[in-house]
This record gives sequence, structure tokens and C-alpha cells, in this order.
Amino acid sequence: MAKWQAYGAKNMNAKKDFPILKRRINGKEIAYLDNAATTQKPKCVLDAMDDYYTMHNANIHRGIYKISEEATEMYEKAHENAGRFVDAGFQEMVFTRNTTESINLVAYSLLPEFQKGDEIVLSRMEHHSNLVPWQHVAKMSGARLKYIELLEDGSIDMESAKKAISRKTKLVSIAHMSNVLGTINDAREIGRIAHSNGAMIMVDGAQSVPHFQISVKKLDCDFLAFSAHKMLGPTGIGCLYGKKEILEGMRPFLYGGEMIREVSYESAKFNELPWKFEAGTQNIAGAIGFDRAIGYLRSIGMDNIRDHGKMILAYATRRLSEIEGLRIIGNSRHKGSIISFDFRGIPPHDMAAILDAEGICIRAGHHCAMPLMKYLGVNGTSRASFYIYNTKEDADRIANGIEKGRKLFKV
Ligand code: ALA
Repeated sequence: MAKWQAYGAKNMNAKKDFPILKRRINGKEIAYLDNAATTQKPKCVLDAMDDYYTMHNANIHRGIYKISEEATEMYEKAHENAGRFVDAGFQEMVFTRNTTESINLVAYSLLPEFQKGDEIVLSRMEHHSNLVPWQHVAKMSGARLKYIELLEDGSIDMESAKKAISRKTKLVSIAHMSNVLGTINDAREIGRIAHSNGAMIMVDGAQSVPHFQISVKKLDCDFLAFSAHKMLGPTGIGCLYGKKEILEGMRPFLYGGEMIREVSYESAKFNELPWKFEAGTQNIAGAIGFDRAIGYLRSIGMDNIRDHGKMILAYATRRLSEIEGLRIIGNSRHKGSIISFDFRGIPPHDMAAILDAEGICIRAGHHCAMPLMKYLGVNGTSRASFYIYNTKEDADRIANGIEKGRKLFKV
């Protein structure tokens, strides 16, 4: 049996754990290929959240009674496991709402540190979450934004990176894996260049953390942001990893309850890490669901998940490349399981509607990366993004669906 089949059809066999994947759309079995936007949730994640609300619902860190202690323990365990998942210490892992909020936390907290003459370096492939917060910092502080250019295949031009990052750079913020091109960037090398220039490196791991094992220590990044909902967890909970010594020196982002140690009418002393950055009642159920998702991913093994992604990417790329008139956008050798494409004669939104009629869910449009679309010279793309429950059959179905569209549109 081919290695691909071993993972896709036998060992992984993840589809059965996801109730939504039993649904039929337009009379057809669902083929969910919009995992870069959000992933589906296995039954165990849904059950974990249900169990918290049904049996343990109480606020955390404040009740001297059984169910509050249980909820606190469950929440803190989620914290610990989220940290461990990326090789971070307990105090270095902050829960936020999502990747966007994690990036905003860093941007707002560090805003007073930026001044005219400073530079913030991003790449041309960033999505709005890793673009707009820095535009705001630049506008408020007088700092300048600089961009690293891309090569034809959709990878980072490392020569451009070396030119863009200088002693004036205060921070580099870069996608680890592009949500449009699928490119996996050498974040470690870009971080090395940043550090050698005295700058900090923030890695947007929204697409990478779900797909392969990451160690913040090996990556040597100063910050890493990611979201639970793109890795089988619920929406509304995300992570910010920050090096302890950096987080310790940073101002809080949100002020209020939970993030304090002592308050008078005049002032407040802030709590220790990571709670200093977690003001107000947190998304406790979300954290518990996320913890379960992490457990589920671990039980499959991140190396198996990476291999599955590689194999489905190779298979789907081959199938789609065989379709005349279809152009894949993003052909880097280092790529995750995301395929953006352009099909002569069928605009992306029409393509999505054609595939929807077949029960296939893809995303069409600018993928929250409008400047990148302009840079690539397209109005939008169609995008299929795969995850652990997708099979070779799903890749066949999208290829067949596109062929059907071609006949329909007579192109
Ligand atoms: N950034 C997410 C996507 O690519 C929302 O769809």
C-alpha cells in the first residue's frame, strides 16, 4: 500500500471523529477544504466543552469551592499543554482570542517603544492580521514599514530580507506559513537576521502550528501567535507565546480584573505572568476545548500530520495541475497543504459556487490578504486547504468538480 494511503485511508482515518463531516450538502457528502479559514471540531472537543458547562462551570482563580477549583485546574492544565505544544514555559504562554488579538497585544503593548526613525519589517505575503496592527503602530509612532519581496514561486526573497532588515529595524513580523501561497518561510533564518541587527522577531504561526511540530526554542522567535480554531479547537481562543524576559518588561494590553495583584483608588500592581496579560473572565470553555484538541492532535502525532499534509498536497497538486487552464499560485518547494489557483474563464466566486453544488467547501476571494492579491496581479484566487481528515478522494472530488465547471462554463 502506498504511504499516502496508509495515512490517508487507514492510520489517520480521522473523518469518523468529526460529526459535521457526516453531513450531506446538496445531497452530496461534504468535502471540507477550507481549513486555512477554520478547521472542524472532533466530538471529543465538543464533549470537553459540554462537560465543563454541564459539570464544572464556575469562574477561575477566585472561588474557594470545589467546582471553581476544578475549573481552575482544567484552565491551568490547558495553559500548560498549550505551552508544551510549542515547547514554551508556563509563564510564556498567554491566552488571547485569536492570532489577530495576539498580534494586537504585542503591537499595542510595544507601541510606546516605537519612534520616528524606527522600522518595522513585514513581508509582501502577510494577511491583514499581521499587517493592519503594524500600520497602526507606524501611524501612531512615526515608525516606517518596510516589506520583504517575494520570488516568482511565492517564497521569500532572502536577499531582499537581508536588505530590508537593518540596525533601524525594531521588529520583524512574518508569517510562518502563508494562508494564500502555502509557502513555509524560514522563520528561524529571518529571526537570526533580525537578532543580528538588534531587532525582535514575531512569527505568525496561524497556519503553521496546526500542521507541524514547532519549538519556539529551536525557532528562537521572540513572539509566536496562533489560533485554536485552525487546529480543531473552538473559536475565540488563541495563543501568544513571548520570551519570558520580554513579556516581563512589557506593559499590559488590557487592564482590569484578574491581571492585577493589588489595587488602590490611585494605582495597581500587576499580576505575574501569564495572568498579567489575561484581564477579565477568560474563555474557560474555549481553553478546555482547546486542551482536548491538543490532546487529539498529539494522539495522532504532529509528524504524522505533517506527512499526511505533504502527501495530500503532492497528490492534489498533481491532480489540479493536470487540468488545462488551471494555474496554481504559489509553487515554493517548502509548502504546506494549501493550494490557491486561478482558472481561466471562471472567476473564484463562481468556482466556489460550482464546487458548493458538489458538496465541496473552498474559499474564494482575497483571503484577508488584499495587498498580496494586488502584488500577484490577481483580483482573488480559489483556495483549497487540507487537514487531517481530508483524503485522496477529497482531492479527486475537487479536480472532478472543476472539470464539471469547465463544461458548465464552456471554457
Ligand atoms: N486568515 C484566514 C483565511 O485565510 C481567515 O481564511
